[in-house]
Amino acid sequence: MRKHIVAGNWKMNNDLAQTESLITDLKSQTRTSDAEVMIAPTFTNVWQAYQTLKDSYIEVVAQNMHFAENGAYTGEVSASMLKSVGVKTVILGHSERRAYFNETDELLAKKVDAALANDMRVIFCFGEELSDRKSNNQETIVASQIKNALFHLDAAAFQSIVLAYEPVWAIGTGETASPEQAQEMHAFIRKTLADTYGESVANDVSILYGGSVKPNNAKEIFSKPDVDGGLIGGASLKAEDFYAIVNAF
Ligand code: G3P
Repeated sequence: MRKHIVAGNWKMNNDLAQTESLITDLKSQTRTSDAEVMIAPTFTNVWQAYQTLKDSYIEVVAQNMHFAENGAYTGEVSASMLKSVGVKTVILGHSERRAYFNETDELLAKKVDAALANDMRVIFCFGEELSDRKSNNQETIVASQIKNALFHLDAAAFQSIVLAYEPVWAIGTGETASPEQAQEMHAFIRKTLADTYGESVANDVSILYGGSVKPNNAKEIFSKPDVDGGLIGGASLKAEDFYAIVNAF
């Protein structure tokens, strides 16, 4: 079901004490929108975050996971391990994992399958590089990323998929996509879904925008008809800024 969602991707930030402090600040904020609220701390802080937030509306999600159930994968964590510490949603395909850890569409398809096999929800990230945008190739790139990793799924699977369009050139740069650029791409993504799965499935999928969303631009971006919320990096690390975005609907 299509929902407003604002998810904070903390990336590799906050130790245990800083996590506890930020969560205390988040709990003191007031939500005035209908947005689902999620935070994604690092693995070392997930259990503490879950324990602190399990009776609240803020969902604790994971930043990544491996596709195997267990085994000789040093440094990795599996879906069942995440579920054992209360995690029901996982971010997959973030551009930083594609870039720094060579995560391919094929590997991501396996991770998506593993998450769905464990009844988890997936926030699937994708987006073009600056060079692709400059050559007006963004739609080709985005279509291939979502088709290669997701279009083996049946229509029902998309009830557990949230899409997150994150133009790489906007991540951490302050160069936010314009609301018009975001809407144009989100509408293209929704049409790409509809062409394969039909209008009903396409209209039910939440499509988030990520890439330098801030308190001063969130309202205009979120006002666009095919933007259903945001995946927030830097601005999620301050409770007041994050809630200015949560409440920007
Ligand atoms: O996953 C969200 C992230 O990539 C966006 O980061 O700092 O541009 O909001 P930021």
